[in-house]
Amino acid sequence: MNKENPTSLIVIFGATGDLAQRKLYPSIYRLYKNGSISKNFAVVGVARRPLSNEEFRANVTKSVSSAANGEGNAEEFSSHFYYHPFDVTSSNSYQQLKDLLGSLDHDYETNGNRIFYLAMAPEFFGTIASNLKAEGLTETAGWKRLVIEKPFGHSLPSAKELNEEIREAFHESEIYRIDHYLGKEMVQNIEVIRFANALFEPLWNNRYISNIQITSSEVLGVEDRGRYYENSGALRDMVQNHMLQMVALLAMEPPIKLNPEEIRSEKVKVLRALRTIEQDEIENYFVRGQYGQGVIAEDTVLGYREENSVDPDSNTETFVAGKLVIDNFRWAGVPIYIRTGKRMYSKSTKIVVQFKDIPMNLYYNLGEKVDPNLLVIHIQPEEGITLHLNAKKSGKDITTTPIKLDYSNNCIDGINTPEAYERLIYDAMRGDMTNFTHWDEVALSWSFIDQVSKAWESKKASDFPNYEAGSTGPKKADELLEKDGFHWWPV
Ligand code: BG6
Repeated sequence: MNKENPTSLIVIFGATGDLAQRKLYPSIYRLYKNGSISKNFAVVGVARRPLSNEEFRANVTKSVSSAANGEGNAEEFSSHFYYHPFDVTSSNSYQQLKDLLGSLDHDYETNGNRIFYLAMAPEFFGTIASNLKAEGLTETAGWKRLVIEKPFGHSLPSAKELNEEIREAFHESEIYRIDHYLGKEMVQNIEVIRFANALFEPLWNNRYISNIQITSSEVLGVEDRGRYYENSGALRDMVQNHMLQMVALLAMEPPIKLNPEEIRSEKVKVLRALRTIEQDEIENYFVRGQYGQGVIAEDTVLGYREENSVDPDSNTETFVAGKLVIDNFRWAGVPIYIRTGKRMYSKSTKIVVQFKDIPMNLYYNLGEKVDPNLLVIHIQPEEGITLHLNAKKSGKDITTTPIKLDYSNNCIDGINTPEAYERLIYDAMRGDMTNFTHWDEVALSWSFIDQVSKAWESKKASDFPNYEAGSTGPKKADELLEKDGFHWWPV
């Protein structure tokens, strides 16, 4: 196998869905355009509705048009795409797909390498995986890999059940569980900032850090995903996966090598050290919120309970703030606060590492205490880091002024950060599992999250909706930090 220009058939289940059209096709197109994948590839789109190859290719051409930017090779790219109308439970469907893969394998000389990408309703994940094996589609001369989108279960027991099903057909080393945050440039940069600088790692512990804050806020509401979201809520949609993955990267020990096994083993240790919150203590650690009506960019927007496919009396949270405690030597006593929500005032993901105050303040900043040092990691939409320091204010008096050292990825000339999905598809094709979640991580995250969701499901939130669309979330999220003597840094 050529590791750098991999060759494979990619079978996408859910080929007419939103994710495939908005993210997967443009990402594969960019890989094609920049020569990252070999021309020996073909994509088979699988979905229920009947479509001809021509119709499917026209859809693909359309979905890559902005990435293609008039370059004229979108049609040539789409000619690698084939469509297979499919019924998940019919043996016939799998047999026809098997024949199609066999002939494409031959035509495109893909050496029997196959990626099965499940980008569709999660209730079919298990059935598809077992049928792929039962019908012989996984018997191939090359490698086979299963790429699986979230949600990976709904709780620990359901995730286990799904895992057992897919493990009958694929080995753990063939399962690529997507967490698209792990494909983001600045999430990948967390490790580099920490472990490639002599400056930070010695300070990266409870002697010098007072708290860490991770915020991922969105302006969009639930849109047309009401049915899914009602059963998920922000806790399962964002915290179980993306937020806990960022926590693990921030808190892990330096791995002994930069390989998937070593990195994962350090992340797993962090998740194991997360203090389990007892049911009757949830309110001291977690805050839930739901947006009501509000104004965003001068438009009045609906409250969550008025959205499509949402129960008018819904108990589903669209906002979560939490205080996580990591019980290990490095982090004992350092709270990690997280918050995420829909319909907030800005679209932004940021990490703020707040350092402890200096032992004795000699300087005053306009009569105030000097500001603490902060390291801010901007994940999106800006990508970069800012270090907040104090310096002398120009002039005769010795007073201080806060200053910022800024590094912005976006300002580097010619840089074109690949989309998260572009990287992840490329990694899956090359067989690099570093930025995918292993079952051990998934299981530990669910067991932590299940405690919170059980407490919330057993008791209806009496104050929903409790934050206005376009705001920073419920007041209780501020109180969560205030009672520890902290406040959220603006994002
Ligand atoms: C997805 C969630 O995993 O992440 C969505 O299902 C959310 O609800 C999205 O909007 C946020 O991703 P990003 O990359 O826009 O921060």
